[in-house]
Amino acid sequence: MKTRHSLTHGRAQELALDDGSVQLVVTSPPYPMIAMWDEVFPSSSDALARSDGPAAFEAMHQELDACWAELFRVLQPGGLACINIGDATRSLGGQFALYPNHARILSAAMRLGFTVLPDILWRKPNNSPTKFMGSGMLPAGAYVTYEHEYVLVLRKGGKRAFTAKQAETRRKSALFWEERNVWFSDLWELKGTGQKLSRGGRDRSAAFPFELAWRLICMYSMYGDVVLDPFAGTGTTLCAAAVAGRNGVGVDLDAALVAGFELELPERARPRLAAHRAFVADRETKHDNPRYGAVVTAQERKLELWEVAGVSGLEVDYALV
Ligand SMILES: C[S@@+](CC[C@H](N)C(=O)[O-])C[C@H]1O[C@@H](n2cnc3c(N)ncnc32)[C@H](O)[C@@H]1O
Repeated sequence: MKTRHSLTHGRAQELALDDGSVQLVVTSPPYPMIAMWDEVFPSSSDALARSDGPAAFEAMHQELDACWAELFRVLQPGGLACINIGDATRSLGGQFALYPNHARILSAAMRLGFTVLPDILWRKPNNSPTKFMGSGMLPAGAYVTYEHEYVLVLRKGGKRAFTAKQAETRRKSALFWEERNVWFSDLWELKGTGQKLSRGGRDRSAAFPFELAWRLICMYSMYGDVVLDPFAGTGTTLCAAAVAGRNGVGVDLDAALVAGFELELPERARPRLAAHRAFVADRETKHDNPRYGAVVTAQERKLELWEVAGVSGLEVDYALV
């Protein structure tokens, strides 16, 4: 098995991809109303200058709407988009408010014809003693501290259809039962990832953790699929796609980030198998996978794990574990 990966400089609103050529999108856009991203939303500058928060919020989202429309175009019917987004809090003109990015994106997605599926709440605890905002212990002027973001899950139309050959690949791409139980829960407690950035035009990477992208790719695509990240940033999604045996396509507006990109591929296949073997060691199981031994369900009997065997530039080779 071989996969290919590309990261190009461009805009998520104009993707050089054919209609229906992508099976999964995993992405995190610049967050509207978070000050570090103001400059990538030029249409909001007048509203920001007059401290009109709701108008700036809407202008920024109209720029993102064009990207969601592009995703709808390039996804194949039944393809999925996982969008990591946090809501924003901001004071403008002396007025503190929450700007509900996730709700605005869901409304836009529904208008475009996406089917909205249950989302994941990503909780990343913040241990800073200064995290509380507002009037301290005095009611009623304090604000709840946000320590969560969302992973919205959208599908283009109805369920994906599989040919007989694709159905075989789908069975090879199965998850272990115990992985399914954790990953398909609606609350993920994952620590954020390091935010220092040594290349590109900004100080903070705004990267999501490898684990987040990798799980989503394993959950919502299969070996050989094309995974797109139209706001690829440091390329976390591309690296996770490569580790998971999927092809990766990335686009980002920051030319310097794109220029310095290299695949970094942590090992996942053997640790996955080791965790599975530890899980089944003291359980009664009824089913058997010819390569890996005991499994809990019949759906895991054809499951295969592929590890990275070689990387040549942006091409990856695999060996069956
Ligand atoms: C939240 S960051 C994504 C970080 C990424 N998930 C990672 O793990 O590194 C958003 C990215 O969107 C890029 N960006 C902003 N506006 C864009 C646009 N119109 N088209 C493509 N990329 C854009 C920014 O340069 C930034 O890298």
